[in-house]
Amino acid sequence: MSALPSPQARRRSRLTQVAGAFMPPPVFDFWAQRLHPTWTWERPLARVVGHMPAAAGAVTLTLRPNRHWPGALPGQHVNLTAVIDGIRVTRSYSLDAPVHADGRISVTVKGVDGGRMSRHLLERARVGDVLDIGPGFGELVLPAGATSPRLFLAAGSGITPLMALVRQLAAQGMPAPVTLLYWARTRAEFCFAEELRALAARHAGLDVRFVLTGEMPATDDEAGGRIDAALLDAVVADHARRQTYACGPGGFIAAVETLLGGRVPLLRTEAFTPLPRPPADDTGTVSVRLARSGRELQLPRGTALLDALEAEGLKPRSGCRMGICNTCACGKSAGAARDLRTGTVGEESTHALKLCVNSALTDLVLDL
Ligand code: FES
Repeated sequence: MSALPSPQARRRSRLTQVAGAFMPPPVFDFWAQRLHPTWTWERPLARVVGHMPAAAGAVTLTLRPNRHWPGALPGQHVNLTAVIDGIRVTRSYSLDAPVHADGRISVTVKGVDGGRMSRHLLERARVGDVLDIGPGFGELVLPAGATSPRLFLAAGSGITPLMALVRQLAAQGMPAPVTLLYWARTRAEFCFAEELRALAARHAGLDVRFVLTGEMPATDDEAGGRIDAALLDAVVADHARRQTYACGPGGFIAAVETLLGGRVPLLRTEAFTPLPRPPADDTGTVSVRLARSGRELQLPRGTALLDALEAEGLKPRSGCRMGICNTCACGKSAGAARDLRTGTVGEESTHALKLCVNSALTDLVLDL
């Protein structure tokens, strides 16, 4: 996944090991970063080495992680952390390509209204900035050596992990047929459009359709409308026999699962906003005791615990905010919580309650 260390990196590594024997890692990091911004004892950091517009309101950042970053597979996400106005903010972004041979990676970020991190990366991040970076996570990866025909369904920012898979397969000579359907409201919002068209021209096995929901289609590779059975039948006649990978907002993923769940050989989905919630009459407040700090809070039922705790001024660790990365997981020793993605209720004590996708149903005791 990552490049072999260079002779300089190996020398640096020996140097850091010797120096590290004489001082604690944070002190080592403080002085090492005066020599080079990403030299650390063990903390994975990545330096911004490229910042290019990708489409209307979107930017592609090229990052060079240091040698402590364990890597990520095409289709996976990483947590990036920046200090914004004095506060550390972490969000998850998908790699938009496999890790380069020299260790560089790229992520494409769309600015979200009110999105602190995305606006920062879009408007304020500069070449030379340094971000904390976490290991790759997520299930939207291709099994090694598989040659089944595939259908990729992307909506909005959901293109980024699927673009990484398209680039991975293109680098392998497109070993099996792939059809990519990519939705956006307007033509200007499509990222990678030129490259996707060039790849489709070069690889007979790759078919790309740009699907517009706010403009009329105008070219042979454009279509119009939201996802439904008629559109899939018209564009991908054999979709029922394709392994299907989908990424997009919750409403889009819910529609994909309704249309294709149990009807295709494999369906892997990832939603970057919550799925439409099953109806639940979770109103009022409950008492939540934070065992480590001894605080007792009144928190609303029906609201993700992460949001509710942040509204009280707490800062639990978080990353993807969609139940994938596990960063927010904490212990629950008493009480019942509801998984907001599925509506299921967990009454058992657990070491790993995901605060970003669970709400309090009864009084709770959390290991915070
Ligand atoms: S923040 Fe990623 S699982 Fe909760």
